[in-house]
Amino acid sequence: MSNNEKRLAGEAAIRYVEDGAIVGVGTGSTVAYFIDALADLRDRIQGAVSSSEQSTAQLKKHGIPVLDLNATGPLSLYVDGADECDPYKRLIKGGGAALTREKIIAEASEKFVCVIDSSKKVDLLGKFPLPIEVIPMARSLVGREIAKRGGQPVWRDGVVTDNGNWVIDVHGWQIADPAALENDLNQIPGIVAVGLFARRPANIVLIGDRLMD
Ligand code: A5P
Repeated sequence: MSNNEKRLAGEAAIRYVEDGAIVGVGTGSTVAYFIDALADLRDRIQGAVSSSEQSTAQLKKHGIPVLDLNATGPLSLYVDGADECDPYKRLIKGGGAALTREKIIAEASEKFVCVIDSSKKVDLLGKFPLPIEVIPMARSLVGREIAKRGGQPVWRDGVVTDNGNWVIDVHGWQIADPAALENDLNQIPGIVAVGLFARRPANIVLIGDRLMD
């Protein structure tokens, strides 16, 4: 993992911010560099839609208005990090437990710019345990469904998401068909969001300040 590459990626994403924009902002240590850089453009944008309490605090510290997605309509740009990225720009996200709001904002955005360091680039998704946000009472049910599908569910004990839910990390999956797995898991009652971004992959990936093909 390279903090220098994370910083370069976060700062490079600034080039996609247009005057007057409302910018969707993800969560994590890479996007934190983007938020710091966004502070310089504070007077040229309308504000940001935030994916977590953590990012909201950082945006507010910089005096960047934080807006409600229900009031903004579709966004032109979403910038966020990832835990893994495959050659098709499909992602695993949710290492920071913010996956549900991240997924909502990504879906609402025309362009998703993903900022990563080179350690996140993989051929096959799944070495990073797949985060799944669940309604607390469904934890065991969802765990059994995951085990039926060959995964090993591990409850992220002690973590409560910004939405008041829990997170299960699934180990042991080599995800050959991410869209099929995402669709399948989305049918299980009690799952709020799956940290697979295959239906809605990134449009642009920056590894440090380099564009991924
Ligand atoms: C937050 O829930 C995640 O989706 C993050 O975007 C992801 O974990 C990347 O985080 P870092 O930029 O800190 O590596």
